[in-house]
Amino acid sequence: MKLATTVFGHEFQNPILLAAGTCGFGQELEEVLDVEELGGFVTKSVTVEPRSGNPAPRVTEFGAGMLNSVGLANPGLIRTRSEKLPWLASHVRRARVFVSVAGHTVEEFFQLLEGLDGADGFLGFELNLSCPNDNNRGGPPFALDPEAVSVIVSGCRARTQRPLLAKLAPNDPDVGSTARLATEAGVDGITLVNTLPGLLLRAGSGETELGAGQGGMSGPGLRPAGLRAVREARAHTDVPLLGVGGVLAPQDAVAYARAGANLVQMGTASFAAPRASAAVIRGLKRWGARQGVASWDDLQPSRGVAI
Ligand SMILES: Cc1cc2nc3c(=O)[nH]c(=O)nc-3n(C[C@H](O)[C@H](O)[C@H](O)COP(=O)(O)O)c2cc1C
Repeated sequence: MKLATTVFGHEFQNPILLAAGTCGFGQELEEVLDVEELGGFVTKSVTVEPRSGNPAPRVTEFGAGMLNSVGLANPGLIRTRSEKLPWLASHVRRARVFVSVAGHTVEEFFQLLEGLDGADGFLGFELNLSCPNDNNRGGPPFALDPEAVSVIVSGCRARTQRPLLAKLAPNDPDVGSTARLATEAGVDGITLVNTLPGLLLRAGSGETELGAGQGGMSGPGLRPAGLRAVREARAHTDVPLLGVGGVLAPQDAVAYARAGANLVQMGTASFAAPRASAAVIRGLKRWGARQGVASWDDLQPSRGVAI
């Protein structure tokens, strides 16, 4: 199966990207994975100020995946521009890089775009509108507030010519309408989904398993929510979609394509097996050969599939 696909006017050598927050800025993967094998990756979310993140433990496992409350630990805007992006510019050629940005306020999103847009080393921005652990000054994520989605996306659109993605939430009951709204406000693509708010408690003590209390759920248990969100979004918008949530195997990536995703991201799978993405890329080729599917692009549903 031909895996190369052209999205946002750029060729991706394959449709598999690593998801935001699960591969640092790429450099962290040097010992375990050749990032140039990937379709691309999304950096961890960058905030205006550096952040040390939430109290430990920040990550815990359960039967259907993991719960994390990393709290957007990151080096902040200035060090991202002076250290992380120059490394990307000099080391990454084939993989397509998106920089994820997260504001606590609408204005911070604009500040991040203005501060990073002129730098080299990346293709586009992914707006993290949906972090359950740290967003909107402790209120609900921006992705659940239609007016905020419009204001942030249109303001960011005015500040960059690069491909602009909005990342939406799995617990949005009307994610199709949010996808349409984001499209009308000017995004080039939509990433679905972020982690789902969750809580794990110790039976004996009643204490929360994570230092911060609640967190975001990811992994195989999130896959049905991700697939539903992608299919809903596909019925409401024509822009490229990036499906994410619980992809472990080639068939999971194919399911996202069948739902309407043009590209697929993987996160939690890499924690258990750091080379999981490379295995999925190889497995997709084999899967296509077995099934007689010539090209990744052939998996897309026809327009306007209802849920
Ligand atoms: C440890 C961890 C950190 C994450 N950090 C971010 C982040 O900084 N920004 C973001 O948009 N999503 C973040 N996510 C969410 C992932 O990008 C992805 O949307 C989610 O994990 C679902 O995909 P998965 O089931 O393949 O992990 C994080 C997820 C995990 C597990």
